[in-house]
Amino acid sequence: MAQLWGGRFTKETDQRVFEFNASLRFDKRLLHQDIEGSIAHVVMLAKQGILTVEEKDSIVKGLTGIERDVEEGTLEIDPSCEDVHSFVESVLIERIGDAGKKMHTGRSRNDQVALDMRLYTREQVAATDALLKELLRVLLDTMEENLETYMPGFTHLQKAQPITLAHHYGAYFEMFKRDRGRLKDLFYRMNYCPLGAGALAGTTYDLDRSYTASLLGFEGPTLNSIDSVADRDYLIEFLSALATIMMHLSRFSEEIILWNSNEYQFVELDDAYSTGSSIMPQKKNPDIAELVRGKTGRVYGALVSLLTTMKGLPLAYNKDMQEDKEVAFDAMDTVRDCLTLFAGMLRTMRFRKDRMEKSAMKGFTNATDAADYLVGRGVPFRDAHSIIGKLVLYCIEKDTSIEELSLEELQAVSDKFGPDLYDAVSLKTCVEKRLTAGGPGPGAMRKVIALYRKYLEEKDLTEMA
Ligand code: ARG
Repeated sequence: MAQLWGGRFTKETDQRVFEFNASLRFDKRLLHQDIEGSIAHVVMLAKQGILTVEEKDSIVKGLTGIERDVEEGTLEIDPSCEDVHSFVESVLIERIGDAGKKMHTGRSRNDQVALDMRLYTREQVAATDALLKELLRVLLDTMEENLETYMPGFTHLQKAQPITLAHHYGAYFEMFKRDRGRLKDLFYRMNYCPLGAGALAGTTYDLDRSYTASLLGFEGPTLNSIDSVADRDYLIEFLSALATIMMHLSRFSEEIILWNSNEYQFVELDDAYSTGSSIMPQKKNPDIAELVRGKTGRVYGALVSLLTTMKGLPLAYNKDMQEDKEVAFDAMDTVRDCLTLFAGMLRTMRFRKDRMEKSAMKGFTNATDAADYLVGRGVPFRDAHSIIGKLVLYCIEKDTSIEELSLEELQAVSDKFGPDLYDAVSLKTCVEKRLTAGGPGPGAMRKVIALYRKYLEEKDLTEMA
């Protein structure tokens, strides 16, 4: 297949150079965006009188035919082409002749690839947003059903205070909600069209860049032609948002793995979302959660890789930037799969509420409430803290818990204890009274859940793109 740039060369490209340089193997996934961008470009060229309407029609027909034939499998992507742009242009010329040779008027592969990648990324941003929204739906459904499912809350992985499953899931709801916010922010920032920047310095043709931008659903054209072909920060921002999503998924995975362990037994993963061992017949392993945790590394890798690729590049385009694609595509695919599988795993996971509640009752998760009880009886908090500390020590020695002590035993430590202590430190009271905005008390949680429901009804990026 002919190259796009043979004119000033007198020798054939070395085969190994060709292979090293070529990007078709991975940029063929931009075929649709390449064709979409080329159509907008020639429609604009015709409007400006740079191409005739007949030429434009012939090119558009040729391009749509190429896309259709590739999709239907009647046209193979020729591996002897350097990249997807060369492939499309050479097939077009082969099919429609001279009009095809005019498609690239007023354009460079530099602004072409900048556009293709931006179009592809924009779709991926919206698709990731939709997957996050689906995950949030799973979380919210579980929250609504578990306002009074008690479990221990931890700090330092030590039992701290009792919470509910709804409250714990609510923490992840907030994280993934912020992740969506990041996507929305970067979507608006990146939604400008680089086409028309040419190689780096625009062109002498009378292009209508605003028109091209509007045809492609952009806010407008980018405002500096050098930056337009040199910028990959929108992709770095997206990879950073993807890395943050993975960090959140990974923390959640770690908890699922713990909860699913023999020691915790808070949850049971569905058979369809776990795997067995080839040697130990009793095993049911949380592989999906482990893989999500593991794949976090490669998404971080993509971010660091692109940051490093870009850090020393002089303006404007450099071939180094071709390295953005493989890592970015891999990160996008990975996050898509992780979000999809993770949501499915959560949806089908069973909670062992009895075990969670029992665990919440052990480990003195009500010690703060016992101290607060004494505060209510006029004991200064610091003294109350010390009294309950002694009581806890006494309980540890006797292998019992605060609520199991007799009133006599309690009063031996402080005469402020009365029979109403038992209710004050019950799991139900400990949780129900925590009505601070953002706290676990069902009264507080209900208000937050109502806000979350409304939030999920808002338009998402797929509806706005
Ligand atoms: N495959 C190239 C890339 O992904 C396309 C742009 C090539 N431009 C050039 N002047 N060689 O960056």
